[in-house]
Amino acid sequence: MLSSTTLLAILSALALTSVQSAPADKDSLDSLANKAGKRYLGTAIQSYQLVNNPQYVQILESQFDAITPENEMKWEVVEPTEGNFDFSGTDKIVTEAKKTGSIIRGHNICWDSQQVLKNHIDAVIGRYKDDLAYFDIVNEPLNENGTYKANVWYNVLGESYIETALRYAHEVAPKMKLCINDYNIETVNAKSKAMAKLSAKLLAKKAPLHCMGFESHFIGGETPRDIPASMRQFSDLGLEVPMTELDVRIPVIANDQPANATVAKAQVDDYYTSISACLGNEMCPGVSIWQFADPTSWIPGVFPGYGAALLYDAEYKPKSTYYVVQQALRDGKKTATHFKGCKV
Ligand code: XIL
Repeated sequence: MLSSTTLLAILSALALTSVQSAPADKDSLDSLANKAGKRYLGTAIQSYQLVNNPQYVQILESQFDAITPENEMKWEVVEPTEGNFDFSGTDKIVTEAKKTGSIIRGHNICWDSQQVLKNHIDAVIGRYKDDLAYFDIVNEPLNENGTYKANVWYNVLGESYIETALRYAHEVAPKMKLCINDYNIETVNAKSKAMAKLSAKLLAKKAPLHCMGFESHFIGGETPRDIPASMRQFSDLGLEVPMTELDVRIPVIANDQPANATVAKAQVDDYYTSISACLGNEMCPGVSIWQFADPTSWIPGVFPGYGAALLYDAEYKPKSTYYVVQQALRDGKKTATHFKGCKV
């Protein structure tokens, strides 16, 4: 965690830096993450922004070296009716990632019944099997108390749907790292403990599970302080523990303005805590934020009264949250344990 003196130093530095233009490449988030021993620093994106938002593309290409399609690879977008695939959005994202050499995290697979599942995996993962490094095969499978969510998969196939989906995906893409991805597992609680049990069970059966995605949708001032301990529950099993959807929302007044200085400070502190958690675990390949600029964030639409959750403001200018991420990555260069990937 950041001491209040360090925090003050950063905040006053920000007052000076906020008028400067975007930082030079050697200070970009991805190169700092690489220097701190991490595989990547990523972000979620939407393909239509690539077409008509040059500022967006400029930041994407200069700051990030991993991309998650925010929605384009979800079932309802990529296979809107059974057997009919629309790869237009995802193709744009894959082309963009190849242009800059970014890795791609596929997100996500599960919906509907078994044959439908196999067809979907064959089509989507088959198409991108050489392009994607990671894929969230199962998204948000557990309830808060650690029981299985009664989704369409669980209702039709029972708990084996997770193993089935992982095995199908591994058959189609034997080199891809396959993840479960969930929220509220970033602390040691009933849900993360149940997830660790489920992971151990799958690994004992030699199911191809390689990573546990920590979504990390946090609230300023409420970000868990025991992320490292929760990560250990999985990294001790040999799983990678990427942070997959980091954002830190705070109460806002109009136009994504923080409601007060206290929440703004807490948010900066929480970004530092979050990045440091990944830096401190040798099985964390990197952090992906869930979009990078406030105007494109999902938060205001889903959590009324909250916003300002990301690193850039409405003018696409870096905010204090951007600079604290840089600071955490710089500090990580001295202290971080270098990433040690799992074998596929
Ligand atoms: C969200 C997107 O950001 C929104 O644009 C969409 O309307 C709904 O889904 N957990 C996940 C992500 O795994 O896929 C969700 O993304 C956020 C919560």
